[in-house]
Amino acid sequence: MRIVLVGPPGAGKGTQAAYLARNLQIPHISTGDLFRANISQGTPLGVEAKSYMDAGNLVPDSVTIRMAEDRMNQADAAEGFLLDGFPRNLGQAESLDAYLKGKDLTLDAVLDLEVPEDEVVKRIAGRRICRKDSSHVFHTEYNKPKTEGVCDVCGGELYQRDDDHEETVRKRLEVYHTETEPIIDYYKAQDLVVTISAMGKVDEVTERAMGALQRGE
Ligand code: AP5
Ligand code: ZN
Repeated sequence: MRIVLVGPPGAGKGTQAAYLARNLQIPHISTGDLFRANISQGTPLGVEAKSYMDAGNLVPDSVTIRMAEDRMNQADAAEGFLLDGFPRNLGQAESLDAYLKGKDLTLDAVLDLEVPEDEVVKRIAGRRICRKDSSHVFHTEYNKPKTEGVCDVCGGELYQRDDDHEETVRKRLEVYHTETEPIIDYYKAQDLVVTISAMGKVDEVTERAMGALQRGE
């Protein structure tokens, strides 16, 4: 299956993607995680991306699209993938369509996670992620690690993301509304959008998402 996950910052895309990818046996490809891995390794790509991310802006399409395509070209993505955080504007959506068309492939669904803005703010405020792997995500209240400040998965130190401070979060939400939301209509026109509520416990949302994907709602 080839799935795109869309939703505002803090909706729980990364959290759900980890479970959905495991259930569906496809790789989880998060452009945010790829950028953060580049930042922690100090690559030129990471250095370029960081200034945009810290300001809550999108990293330029040229850089992002190349990075996403390189990842989709890897062997483990040949049978399918779950894209998290990509595409994020109409240009990226069109380039993804062209990429897939060139390989005679199509998307199966665009899973749209709906969460009210006040909940998103609470989720982001308490989010803590792992220094070793930013796909290991916790929350100080809603998804506590067994030991405070320590990743359950790999023992890494948990910290607050640089772009999770109030000013930047406000900017990211604004960018989501202006740049990213229009891709939902773009995919609605292709009859690919499956919208679910992302409220409730993490496992309830996963169940809802799996059900909706299986029914192709
Ligand atoms: P990215 O890393 O993609 O961030 P985002 O889209 O803002 O999404 P988040 O990671 O903030 O939230 P999420 O929905 O994954 O929520 P999570 O599961 O962590 O992008 C960061 C930046 O990179 C961008 O701003 C941009 O600069 C750049 N970038 C990335 N992709 C790009 C692209 N394609 N083009 C250009 N630039 C790009 O959950 C949030 C919290 O809530 C966690 O603490 C979690 O434990 C908790 N939680 C999750 N589910 C629940 C639940 N059901 N109940 C209670 N708490 C929950
Ligand atoms: Zn970890």
